[in-house]
Amino acid sequence: MSKSAKIIYGDKEVECPVVEGTEGEVGIDISKLRSSSGLITLDNGFANTSSGTSAITFLDGEKGILRYRGISIEDLAKNSSFIEVAYLLIYGNLPTEQELLSWESEIKHHTLIKEDLSKLFDAFPRDAHPMGVLSSAISAMSTFYQEYLDPKNSHDVDQVIIKLLGMLPTIASYSYKTSINQPRVYPRNDLDYCSNFLNMMFSVPSEKYEVPSEVVEALNLLLILHADHEQNCSTSAVRLIGSSEANLFASISGGISALWGPLHGGANQAVMEMLNQIHLDGGNVQKFIDLAKDKNSSFRLMGFGHRVYKNFDPRAKIIKGACDKVLEKMGVDNPLLNIAKELEHSALNDQYFVDRKLYPNVDFYSGIIYSAINIPVNMFTVMFALGRLPGWIAHWKEMNEDPKSRIGRPRQIYNGENEYSYVDLNKRLNKKKAA
Ligand code: ACO
Repeated sequence: MSKSAKIIYGDKEVECPVVEGTEGEVGIDISKLRSSSGLITLDNGFANTSSGTSAITFLDGEKGILRYRGISIEDLAKNSSFIEVAYLLIYGNLPTEQELLSWESEIKHHTLIKEDLSKLFDAFPRDAHPMGVLSSAISAMSTFYQEYLDPKNSHDVDQVIIKLLGMLPTIASYSYKTSINQPRVYPRNDLDYCSNFLNMMFSVPSEKYEVPSEVVEALNLLLILHADHEQNCSTSAVRLIGSSEANLFASISGGISALWGPLHGGANQAVMEMLNQIHLDGGNVQKFIDLAKDKNSSFRLMGFGHRVYKNFDPRAKIIKGACDKVLEKMGVDNPLLNIAKELEHSALNDQYFVDRKLYPNVDFYSGIIYSAINIPVNMFTVMFALGRLPGWIAHWKEMNEDPKSRIGRPRQIYNGENEYSYVDLNKRLNKKKAA
């Protein structure tokens, strides 16, 4: 097979090298296209464009494959812990027992946030969306750790990684506790990562709180499944911000903002709201299926469809299985789960969804588990951010360590006005050009 591709336009012919990935994916390297022909490419939503090469996550949307550093998501979900997966993603290999113990201990010893930083939580309105609080607090962290901001200094970067992984759960729980006017609960070093977060979320100083093991297990699973997903919207945002050599705190804060949108991480909140809406409306699933198909309506089945998965989302499959187990163990009978299952069944048998290859994505069932473990709906996307943090860090680090990295600066096809002269205020007559 030829190792180059030709782009022919008018009398110009450009030969572009072809880059092949380890799983056989082939990309045309157009980096010299503009300098040799004046042409650029147009690709709305970057649906066909890779911003570079990456060795972190492999995803095959047609076959429903997802692997972190070569290990399948099913294997990791069954055998690993979130912190171990975070190490794998960030440092490229599974840690030895000693490496894991010392990394976990480092993270545990960096969970406490500075008291001055915790004052920030009082400055927000009580009903502030926790994603806004989260991104602000992470951005503010950069002002408390100014000595560690050099993205090219690996020691500084390692310190920031520890602080982010250690403190993000504390910040998330503080934003929740502040919103419900309860005292913030300090982290506990005798607990593992997930148990510590749950304790900060749900314990109160006046009562003993035992973290239920099935809840810890469910949270660990959800965090692993969300830990990375190659060049998605928020990860691309983190990489783009980081490409200007902005520090890791600033880049992660931007990633949190990108995740917030309902077409991305915000979908898990939107799914719960939609299931609730269907429930309150009397549970007529078909009515909402029809609405989602109606091109005159802006309603979409939230939690359905994915830019890259055109067969099934392997994460959704694992979560669906876990969902039944968790609800049974917790003795929760959630009518929304039945609506979700009915919705899935109807959509998967409907030609509209079949033709467009729309399947449940990771967010379709995750909200039901989060509800079962008492996470409030407006914290769902925060939970996603806790899970996605290692992926963001891994991509930021990979990009910074790649000698071929350049500042991200896309081109555009300008389609605005051609040049015209400035029009004096008294001659404008509400028109852009003078008559
Ligand atoms: N409900 C109804 N129709 C849909 C849905 C949906 N959820 N998703 C896509 N479609 C239709 C579109 O209307 C379009 O139809 P057309 O070809 O007749 O015009 C076709 O399917 C293709 O949809 P696009 O929007 O072009 O697909 P794109 O890849 O740009 O969008 C996205 C993917 C954003 C995930 C989309 O499927 C969606 O909005 N889903 C709902 C929100 C959601 O669940 N987001 C979470 C994604 S997972 C994550 O980020 C963690």
